[in-house]
Amino acid sequence: MLVIHTIAELHVHLRGVTGIVLVPTMGNLHQGHLDLVRIARQYGQFVVVSIFVNPLQFGMNEDYSKYPRTLEQDCKMLEQCGADVVFAPSERDLYPQPQQVTVELPPIANELCGAFRPGHFRGAATVVLKLFNIVQPRIAVFGKKDYQQLYLMRQMTAQLNLPVEIIGSETVRASDGLALSSRNQYLNVAERTEAVFLYQNLVGIRLAIMDGATDFFKLERQAMEVLSARGWRVDYVAIRSQSNLAEPTACECNLVILAAAWLGKTRLIDNLEVLRDR
Ligand code: PAJ
Repeated sequence: MLVIHTIAELHVHLRGVTGIVLVPTMGNLHQGHLDLVRIARQYGQFVVVSIFVNPLQFGMNEDYSKYPRTLEQDCKMLEQCGADVVFAPSERDLYPQPQQVTVELPPIANELCGAFRPGHFRGAATVVLKLFNIVQPRIAVFGKKDYQQLYLMRQMTAQLNLPVEIIGSETVRASDGLALSSRNQYLNVAERTEAVFLYQNLVGIRLAIMDGATDFFKLERQAMEVLSARGWRVDYVAIRSQSNLAEPTACECNLVILAAAWLGKTRLIDNLEVLRDR
């Protein structure tokens, strides 16, 4: 496995390589990321994993500077998973000048997480587009854990006619159900115990929908109240259509419940797909 730090070096090593599968990450890898690499290997012969903590997608008061950077440990894990290349560029290499050209996304990018993290998805989409242009993959793999991000990457790829197929991969969870995330390590012991309640809440909503509940606004409000009563600071709980992340119509069957909430200083997100009976 090669670890490459510059675009120029990457181009030398990828010359003539076809069928590249890219897994974009910000590093500090866990089993969720490694599962994307496993899926990537099923889709192609040559797997590139990018590791770059992208300043463009962090807000002013967010955790960019303290985001964990663990390249050496990440590379050991990726070597064992059979990645072919780790591309870990420096900020100067990826942003040699201030990035003034950015990707303008559809309005849904300003809802859900986008409403609480202005510019976040623009930053993520812009760096992913740059990575696509640099690595030129045939396929890229993203996790459903970041459901809105996955949706927007699909939209960007389709609407800009990028020659990349986007694969969405299932969320990997801890044994109690908590979605794995690099941010889980910020939680103290008590918060870690409580954290699973976000997922349990989504499971509760899914059960209610499958039992025939149709008042989604009420389900959302109840879930937010329950979380708040337990000490969470809730950004949103929202039941949306899988196809466009809009509020679902009465006959929409493929739904997704999305949530974001703070436990102490840590913001957690999760989501759960629901297939509703007609
Ligand atoms: P990062 O948070 O490092 O996540 C990299 C990829 O891993 C994303 O596609 C994310 O959805 C996926 N992932 C994270 N936790 C997961 C889990 N528990 N199960 C399955 N997949 C999981 O997302 C980003 O980085 C950045 O926004 C990026 C796309 C790299 C652009 O900077």
